[in-house]
Amino acid sequence: MHIKTIVTQTYQDQNPGTSGLRKKVKVFQQRHYLENFVQSIFDVLPNFQGKSLVIGGDGRYFNKEAIQTIIKIAAANGFGELIIGQNGILSTPAASHIIRKYGAFGGLILSASHNPAGENEDFGIKYNVSNGGPAPEKDTQAFFARSKIIDSYKLAELPDINLNEIGTQEIDGLKITIIDSVKDYAQLMESIFDFDLLRQSIQNGFITLSFDAMSAVTGPYAKRILIDMLGAPESAVQNATPLEDFAGHHPDPNLIHAHELADLMFSDNAPTFGAASDGDGDRNMIMGKGIFVTPSDSLAILAANATLIPAYYKGLKGVARSMPTSQAVDRVAAHYKIPCYETPTGWKFFGNLLDADKITLCGEESFGTGSQHVREKDGLWAVLFWLNLIARRRQSVAEIVYEHWKKFGRDIYSRHDYEAVDSDIANNIMTNLREQIETLAGTVFGDYVVKYADEFCYHDSVDGSTSANQGFRIGFTNGSRIVFRLSGTGTVGATLRIYLERFEPDATKHNQDPQIALAPLIVLAEHFCNVKQLTGWTAPTVIT
Ligand code: G1P
Ligand code: ZN
Repeated sequence: MHIKTIVTQTYQDQNPGTSGLRKKVKVFQQRHYLENFVQSIFDVLPNFQGKSLVIGGDGRYFNKEAIQTIIKIAAANGFGELIIGQNGILSTPAASHIIRKYGAFGGLILSASHNPAGENEDFGIKYNVSNGGPAPEKDTQAFFARSKIIDSYKLAELPDINLNEIGTQEIDGLKITIIDSVKDYAQLMESIFDFDLLRQSIQNGFITLSFDAMSAVTGPYAKRILIDMLGAPESAVQNATPLEDFAGHHPDPNLIHAHELADLMFSDNAPTFGAASDGDGDRNMIMGKGIFVTPSDSLAILAANATLIPAYYKGLKGVARSMPTSQAVDRVAAHYKIPCYETPTGWKFFGNLLDADKITLCGEESFGTGSQHVREKDGLWAVLFWLNLIARRRQSVAEIVYEHWKKFGRDIYSRHDYEAVDSDIANNIMTNLREQIETLAGTVFGDYVVKYADEFCYHDSVDGSTSANQGFRIGFTNGSRIVFRLSGTGTVGATLRIYLERFEPDATKHNQDPQIALAPLIVLAEHFCNVKQLTGWTAPTVIT
């Protein structure tokens, strides 16, 4: 294999955010841009000679071209085997599983998750380590540092590889293996859940369902598992073909972007269960007839019912949630006397806790839930978990949710996003919050008394590392909470996220609209951050 060394010029903006490097496609298409970043990763990683690398993505625009380039750089840098999803397709959780199952050195996942795709939209690349999870911050910082000074990269002179044909080919000692994108993942799901019970419940009509793959990566996975293996009708999976531009949609499973599903679930024709996933298959939205389950509640409900699932029948070691996620799961953990960890936003912080066997389930308010089985959040896993629960409990989604609230109380919750705010304004907001925060404790705002206020700093109990500046928390004596943080995944300006929650123990008050129940906190949030005043906007861009 002939290897060329290509002289390059640096880019100063290759700083990976919450989930890898995300930029507009046009940015990635700049000369040497992708090559620099991939070579920077390989320059930083030690001892992978002869080992295997998993490669796959969510199928978005530029996925296939990027894979051909990565193959050539990985070959030139001395990997022994490249394991690639057929047609370049691997959902994020499937990639995580494949890294683990085949003992790969790591993997490159090409995705910008739920961000829109297409020539003028977003692309992304993320490196996952051998446990199947996202690279830790010390690695991503090292990739960035390297990218700022890189002066050359290596490229093997290879023909483009046919990504369509399953099988292994060998080129000068390098194995290139194209695998079925779905098979290993489907087998894993079958080993976790009671597929016989699910088949019966779907076939006898107790469960009817609609899954919206949003023209993104989960289509083939949902079809194989829900239709081929569990016997759901073809009509159960919507938008099942992954398209390079996700059909122009924003594949973010929430009530706004998955509104067709939401409309169906609130109509008279609603099936018993509805769900959607995002661009790369790691997020989930759960709905029942006439009800939307917030991700924070979903995590708590899965934790409370885990022993009904074959893989978790012995109970949970512990649970974890990201800091802005509601405290609903904390109540479940307290009830079952298991540890509950609070981590910064981003899945990578769960990896150490999972590896150390301190937790079994974890999740985030941003439609992400997962478990020991992989080191990423997993959309279809959450869907199958809910289906398994419904089948075991023989109850509707609404019955399961209301019963849960009755037992544990309801954490009424909402997130208000101000997207693409001018970066200077956003930084100002954060600076102002930092100035106020230390003196807030004890201050009285009507019925609300500040119990604590701080800037969240996480100490990882497994590796001893510290992650500072993870968002502002203002907790009140009545259990309510407001959290402010800036997004680490946006590609335009800055996105301010405001997380609001209020605890309601009284079951007669559980059927409330969150925006009404949270109104006093919404007013207080504006008082603290002045986002409306500073931007001149009258409302958030997205409310979930
Ligand atoms: C967002 C979510 C976060 C999630 C991440 C990747 O990050 O808030 O929970 O882990 O996407 O899916 P953010 O844009 O808030 O930094
Ligand atoms: Zn995603």
